[in-house]
Amino acid sequence: MLLGRTEFGHADHKGRVLSREEVMDWLNSWVLNPRLQLHMLQVGHLMRCWALEKIGLDESDAWRWEMAGILHDADWDQWPDTHCRKIVEALEEKQIDPEIIRAIASHGHVHFGVEPVTEMDKMLYAFDELSGFIHAYSLMRPGGYDGMDTKGVKKRLKDKAFAAGVSREDIQDACTRAGIQLDELILFIIPRQADRTAALAS
Ligand SMILES: [Fe+2]
Repeated sequence: MLLGRTEFGHADHKGRVLSREEVMDWLNSWVLNPRLQLHMLQVGHLMRCWALEKIGLDESDAWRWEMAGILHDADWDQWPDTHCRKIVEALEEKQIDPEIIRAIASHGHVHFGVEPVTEMDKMLYAFDELSGFIHAYSLMRPGGYDGMDTKGVKKRLKDKAFAAGVSREDIQDACTRAGIQLDELILFIIPRQADRTAALAS
């Protein structure tokens, strides 16, 4: 749903986060679908890796990035009609860092009417669809993530019948906005998402 505003949270709450335990409790109470939970944890992990490895942020900032990733779809499972207003308002009520709320509010600008502006906004938008697409691809490969390469992912992206719900336009738009080549983003996602997915399954 369109959010009808472009300002979120309060500047005084900068740096305010929940603990990992609190975020996991929230995830478990709002998101009943295990596949959606996995998607949110995957995106959270990619956000964390990007913050640490590409931007050189410290652990506490990396957790802010990860928290945005983990919670971005928190209201999608039970309240799809008010996605993502419900999660945005809940985060505001808890007086969470405005950067996290803004990133969540802008992860689907076509749906929510909020443009991705900050680096966190742009990367959440970029990882969201592509992470889900790559996971869908892993599920149809006999070896899962083993041996997956950029070429294979791009071939599937060209196959419009595969994971038809994933917007190829959004993926390309997100790369353009983030100033990243599609190949680079795919190459970044595959090994990190493979590791995280294996760790979560064990
Ligand atoms: Fe998502």
